[in-house]
Amino acid sequence: LDLTETHEAVLSWYDAHARDLPWRRPRTSAWAVLVSEVMLQQTPVSRVEPAWRAWLARWPTPADLAAAPTAEVLRAWDRLGYPRRALRLRECAAVIRDRHGGRVPQSEEELRELPGIGTYTAAAVAAFAYGRRAVVLDTNVRRVLGRALAGQALPPPALGRDERDRAAAYLPADAARSVRWNVGVMELGALVCTARAPRCEACPLRGSCAWLRAGRPADPHAATRR
Ligand code: ADE
Repeated sequence: LDLTETHEAVLSWYDAHARDLPWRRPRTSAWAVLVSEVMLQQTPVSRVEPAWRAWLARWPTPADLAAAPTAEVLRAWDRLGYPRRALRLRECAAVIRDRHGGRVPQSEEELRELPGIGTYTAAAVAAFAYGRRAVVLDTNVRRVLGRALAGQALPPPALGRDERDRAAAYLPADAARSVRWNVGVMELGALVCTARAPRCEACPLRGSCAWLRAGRPADPHAATRR
């Protein structure tokens, strides 16, 4: 699988097919990107969009959210689910205000130390808010790379070291391209390379995908998956 060709295929597919999601627009603040990533972790895009707009209109900076009363924070989170995430996000805002001068830190290491920010979210914020090169591995990305590069129907339940190394090996060297690659692979997983009904005929990687070439074998972990 030629690296440059693979990158080019995903990048041009993304340019032609990506959804226009508000947190992907230029000049979105790093805080707004962070809020979007926390909301998107367990909630679909369609429900996140209006909640994200309303949330940022009300609390445009970490300092604004850090000062908000609990009842209002929970009410604004409303139907996003897992309400404890809302309170963790307020804790995160307070740490940004108190220890980072009110600005979202840029490095993955500093981001990971914030309350409620794990490996995925730290990488996503470094990449999408700050244009940094980072290995962004969410469920969609893991599925696309697992299929295209390793021939797996679905990635193993636990993220392994070898899987991370493989993703790192495929990350474009250029930072700007790495950001587009990350969001492009993520979008491919959301729109084409879906878990249940992948549309391989519409996939930019159909010519080189290891899973398609193997005849789309079934998931060996199917019996143990929730
Ligand atoms: N764009 C950037 N991050 C995203 C995410 N987690 N879900 C959907 N679109 C995104």
